[in-house]
Amino acid sequence: LIYLDNNATTAIGAKVLEAMLPFYLKWYGNPASNHPFGLEVKQHIDDSRNKVADLINAKPNEIIFTSGATEAINLALKGFALRNKQKGNHIITLQTEHKAVLDVCSYLENNVFEITYLSVDKNGLVNLDDLKNALKPTTILAAIMYANNETGIIQPITEISTILKDAGVTLFTDSAQAVGKIKVDVQQDGMDMLSLSAHKFHGPKGIGALYIRRKGSNKPRIEAIQHGGGHEMGYRSGTLNVAGITGLAIACEIASKSLYKNTSYTKELRDYFEAQISALDFISINANDATRLPNTSNVQFKGFDADAIIMGLDNIMVSTGSACTSNEIKPSHVLLAMGLSEAEAYSSIRFSFSKMNTTAEVDVTVEAIKVVTQNLRQNYTMSSV
Ligand SMILES: Cc1ncc(COP(=O)(O)O)c(C=O)c1O
Repeated sequence: LIYLDNNATTAIGAKVLEAMLPFYLKWYGNPASNHPFGLEVKQHIDDSRNKVADLINAKPNEIIFTSGATEAINLALKGFALRNKQKGNHIITLQTEHKAVLDVCSYLENNVFEITYLSVDKNGLVNLDDLKNALKPTTILAAIMYANNETGIIQPITEISTILKDAGVTLFTDSAQAVGKIKVDVQQDGMDMLSLSAHKFHGPKGIGALYIRRKGSNKPRIEAIQHGGGHEMGYRSGTLNVAGITGLAIACEIASKSLYKNTSYTKELRDYFEAQISALDFISINANDATRLPNTSNVQFKGFDADAIIMGLDNIMVSTGSACTSNEIKPSHVLLAMGLSEAEAYSSIRFSFSKMNTTAEVDVTVEAIKVVTQNLRQNYTMSSV
């Protein structure tokens, strides 16, 4: 098996799993219990919160543990909208956001909020003048992703946060694909809220966090969405997933120590892959000119059906786009928003690399692509005779 679908999820790191196991087998206490066993585990949760905060240059009390990025997005957007609806009902987002953001926006749209879905250019980038022009006196929030899951395109978050700060509008940034892969620094980048997810950078599935800025006069205020025992400073009730939080923290610690090394390594692999397949006359790389995640390549196989290639690639795991929407037989909303035709979108495949991939795997993949596309062409020629 060659796994090149690392934007869907990554393999858990051996050290991450090793660190988690004692919290199932030995330290199974509830961190909310007041006896020494519970307090010991609570101390461990505090240490984990520090590690997660460190990776993004936040403070520990700015981290709320959630079940992943989807929950963090729901809490940030619904929680903020509910709490601030008397200030205004207008929210700005991008047409190319992940489904988790788009579906929450559509839910809010059915509940008295007005949503502006900004378009993007051919490189997937938001036009900053469009953003300025979309602002209204009723605008309370903008949800603009850090890096796109299908194309890897990175939005100019610092410029965006400056514009929104000047307008007094809160910025939420879905950073599920950025955190752990590239440097994300909440102080420098300037977002007010951010979502992250452990399984995107060799942590376990089902755990993530919401960062919410606690400093400054205009710090965001949100309402809880999930009620119960008042865990997570009252924002997210429910017994903590101690082993998952441990896995997230260790994944953050490892990512923090080796960010530069991993970024360079995956970029080298990705660039090597792109250089090789670009030699084929039917290939073009979507958003080649944009600043992209170092591990992501979205490739158009002109004249081919992406699903036929994926079937032919057999034990090489790649995908046509987001894992969350891959059951839908629809062209990618991200690629369509960038101006690709339906046919071009249907012929595009995402290859996403990780530190666990090798150059030899890239070589095998490129050879397999040559064979599969040749076979598909032959079959087509024969069936049309
Ligand atoms: C950009 C983006 N946002 C949100 C999510 C949802 O993350 P999770 O699986 O942690 O709910 C994903 C995962 O596919 C993603 O790529």
